Amino acid sequence: MFDSGVGGLSVLIHLRRQLPAEDVVYFADQGHIPYGPRPAEEIQAFAAEITRFLLRLRSKLVIVACNTATAAALDYLRSAFPDVPFIGMEPAVKPAALTTRSGKVGVLATPSTLNSHRYAGLMARYATGIEVFEDPCTGLVQLIEAGALDGPETRALLTRVVAPMLAEGADTLVLGCTHYPFIRPLLEDIVGDGIAIIDPAPAVTRHTRFVLQQHQLATPTDQAGTLRCFTSGDPRQLDVFARRVLDDPCAAEPVEWHNNRLIAGQGPG
Ligand code: DGL
Repeated sequence: MFDSGVGGLSVLIHLRRQLPAEDVVYFADQGHIPYGPRPAEEIQAFAAEITRFLLRLRSKLVIVACNTATAAALDYLRSAFPDVPFIGMEPAVKPAALTTRSGKVGVLATPSTLNSHRYAGLMARYATGIEVFEDPCTGLVQLIEAGALDGPETRALLTRVVAPMLAEGADTLVLGCTHYPFIRPLLEDIVGDGIAIIDPAPAVTRHTRFVLQQHQLATPTDQAGTLRCFTSGDPRQLDVFARRVLDDPCAAEPVEWHNNRLIAGQGPG
């Protein structure tokens, strides 16, 4: 599985709980974060090389644990690697439309996700008859990467994002970026009771289990699966975050980008 940074760890948490026997390789492209403001073609090139890297480590299925990379690159990956089962993440517009009682929903995502064809398709299919307010949450991914999950700057940014949505009557908020579940407690504190917050990660994990079984790829044992984490950024940064949020963190291994190719890195020494 991969993400631009620590966001996919919010999916990994559910994966380790629901599919404890599976060996997992997690790749954080922290050398390129944030993906949110980048053009789709660039994200497609990153995603294709990361997929090759994960396949070299004998991955049997790839979870694109990033809404931005899913929006930009999932269709491209499926056509470039037709034999690989891919699972993507997308903003939970459909569950939100089924949940809202006021008919008003707020979507928190990155600019690239909100501007994508994939998101436009989701809206056309599932957002009929409801009103949707969107915000690209500029700077939020960087604050989360820096570990500022409940500081005053993050609180101020989130308040700025959700206050207009709540003022319009939104009663349901969609976490449309895998980084955002890590600020969920702060968000709950800001919005108070009576506002539903939807994270698609548990549903995506259930879908992963289904796809593994469908392809007869599920690991048929009770033994605990292994975890390896890689980053194209500073492994120490990933370690600090992983220790904070994972029950079973592992030491991150460095990988470097050279001429658009990923090679094992030396680390900071
Ligand atoms: N975690 C990613 C997502 O789900 C995006 C973070 C970024 O902008 O790099 O959209």
